[in-house]
Amino acid sequence: MSGFLDGRANLAGKVAAVVGGGGGIGAGVSLALASAGVDLAICDIDATALAETQSAIGAKGRRVTAMTADATDEAALDAFYDTVERDFPRLDILVNVAGGTKRQFLSEASRADIARDIQRNYGYVIQSVQRAVPLMKRSGEGGSIISFTTIEAHRGAASFSVYAGAKAATTNFTRSMAVELGKDRIRVSCIAPDTTLSHGNMAAMPPSFAEGFMKLPPHVQGKGMEMYIPRREQPPVDALADAVLFLGSDLSTFVSGMTLHVDGGTMAAAGFLDWPFGDGFVPTPLAGTLARLYREGDEA
Ligand SMILES: NC(=O)c1ccc[n+]([C@@H]2O[C@H](COP(=O)([O-])OP(=O)(O)OC[C@H]3O[C@@H](n4cnc5c(N)ncnc54)[C@H](O)[C@@H]3O)[C@@H](O)[C@H]2O)c1
Repeated sequence: MSGFLDGRANLAGKVAAVVGGGGGIGAGVSLALASAGVDLAICDIDATALAETQSAIGAKGRRVTAMTADATDEAALDAFYDTVERDFPRLDILVNVAGGTKRQFLSEASRADIARDIQRNYGYVIQSVQRAVPLMKRSGEGGSIISFTTIEAHRGAASFSVYAGAKAATTNFTRSMAVELGKDRIRVSCIAPDTTLSHGNMAAMPPSFAEGFMKLPPHVQGKGMEMYIPRREQPPVDALADAVLFLGSDLSTFVSGMTLHVDGGTMAAAGFLDWPFGDGFVPTPLAGTLARLYREGDEA
């Protein structure tokens, strides 16, 4: 039985392409779309995850095409979109999930590191959108393009500078395409996560970070997130998938060129922290907290 929201969302019977749709956050997005009645074309660099997600989508009764592809390889992207054109009569939704980085100061980055971060966070998005748009125009009904960016596109991010710059470029490319494609009723938007547990999120940090974290007592492990995220918990993959459902559906028909921040409030907090001992969200700890954290003679 179809409910009020199903009718308003109008997702059933649509077709989506998800780049990076095989594993982790991408799998969450693909499966949520499939559960909403959307048929899918997915590609991913991880063949194992891709095969698992392909069969999970099939088990939901949706049509699915899957291709192992590195989104930064133009020939692979061509092959993926050729398949989308061949296998589906229409394309309504494109989600560019693939992206990533590793923590590195610019002084440590090689030319290859820099080129890779630009390509996997901005370059391929242009190529993917350019290939998807003619397919989206075929139905004459418009569509929705959604690219994953990050909170780092909206603040200075030391040791993530190339990633931050590339994602900011994707953000403004998105605004520009929203204007360019408005007449075709194609909406173009970004989703900016902050910190969601994923393979990519862990791979961005040095191995010593995860090792050090695991050595902390369990009651201390969550404290950093509680200080940092106003909602006091990390957004799960489903929270990002729900944002895709909104932006991909008719519920967001007049939303275009915008970034949806799915971060539990960290963008709004803008660097204010919920310091320990009850200070609330403030830019620096209050005097009593400072006195408890640091005693005279302590090392800085
Ligand atoms: N996880 C977070 O906390 C976080 C925070 C901010 C932004 N983001 C953004 O969200 C998106 C997904 O995040 P993630 O990387 O942490 O999720 P993830 O590790 O779950 O990766 C999603 C999928 O993308 C695939 N993928 C990665 N690079 C690819 C490539 N070059 N070609 C094809 N597939 C590729 C992976 O194999 C995986 O299946 C990225 O664009 C990332 O920059 C994530």
